[in-house]
Amino acid sequence: MLRVALAQFPQQVCRKCVTRVGFIKCYSTSNSILDGFYGTVGNTPMIKLNGVSKETGCDILVKAEFMNPGGSVKDRAALYLLKDAQEKNLIKDGGTVVEGTAGNTGIGLAHICNALGYKCIIYMPNTQSKEKIELLSVLGADVRPVPAVPFDNPDNYNHQARRYAESLTNAVWTNQFDNTANRRAHIETTGPEIWRQTGGKVDAVTFGTGTGGTMSGVATYLKTKNQNIKTIVADPQGSVLYHWYTNGRIERSDGSSITEGIGQGRVTANMQGAPIDGAICVQDTDAVEMTFRLLHEEGFYLGASSGLNVAAAVQIARDLGPGHTVVTCLCDTGQRYFTRLYSKSWLDGKGLLEAIPEKYRHSLIE
Ligand SMILES: Cc1ncc(COP(=O)(O)O)c(C=O)c1O
Repeated sequence: MLRVALAQFPQQVCRKCVTRVGFIKCYSTSNSILDGFYGTVGNTPMIKLNGVSKETGCDILVKAEFMNPGGSVKDRAALYLLKDAQEKNLIKDGGTVVEGTAGNTGIGLAHICNALGYKCIIYMPNTQSKEKIELLSVLGADVRPVPAVPFDNPDNYNHQARRYAESLTNAVWTNQFDNTANRRAHIETTGPEIWRQTGGKVDAVTFGTGTGGTMSGVATYLKTKNQNIKTIVADPQGSVLYHWYTNGRIERSDGSSITEGIGQGRVTANMQGAPIDGAICVQDTDAVEMTFRLLHEEGFYLGASSGLNVAAAVQIARDLGPGHTVVTCLCDTGQRYFTRLYSKSWLDGKGLLEAIPEKYRHSLIE
């Protein structure tokens, strides 16, 4: 079996686009050839959303993170977590990667583990969509859905993942929440891509936050380029980050959210010290409405965290006024939540059917 050390890839820099090539793909030459799965992570397109841009008089731009080869923004974190494990000699050929994840990091890890010849074991809360659990199995991961309990409970999925990795030989717990290799992925890739693709014309960025890698990494990089860029956390209901960044208290906002992969009960190591200017709490009704607007008005079939990101970007654009540029990302596709977010009965059970504009409800499955 082909085994590749990620760290061995040359870190050359493309003269045209200032992107690293070898480890992260470069599209600036039409005939460039990418190095396997891991070579295709990152460098996603930047897209202007026409409807919401027109409505706000701002450019609302989105990084198409669902176009990563494993289908989500978390491929970037997965790649850097494995690169970090290799650099620190925490795993040898044929070893086992163990992670706790809401699903998308696990999916990225499962793909890269296949490409590198590692085994992959995933602990995830059993509240997550069956589509993600099934996909992980199909990818060859050993998936272990466990009851969803808070982080301070020893049976939280992350602690179970750590303990299990410790019980094995030649195994690593990649620890996406508190291993800052995750943030580094976005400092070295997503942030520079945003700067390059906008030509530096960016006034604000906003992202929903799970581990915090995306938000803190992008914010950290962009602030080195221009201190005036506003960095705003987009927080779902029931998460603590809205209060933390607005009044310094670790306190949950009201309610709970149907969004998956985002929302936090603590400030992870990836978020600690991040240059964050503020936070917005986005209601599920707004996130779901925007997810369906993005489908029927812009053509993008997405998960609810993407709708939440764009709803937050619209709010920021309205606050800034016309003529500004706000950047966020489309995290993953609707296929990962097909039997929930696109089901009439499921949405009705969550009290969210009415959030979808009536003219768009016809496309829901029963
Ligand atoms: C669908 C989705 N959106 C957003 C995020 C948040 O990204 P981050 O962990 O970098 O904060 C995640 C994380 O798992 C996710 O799965």
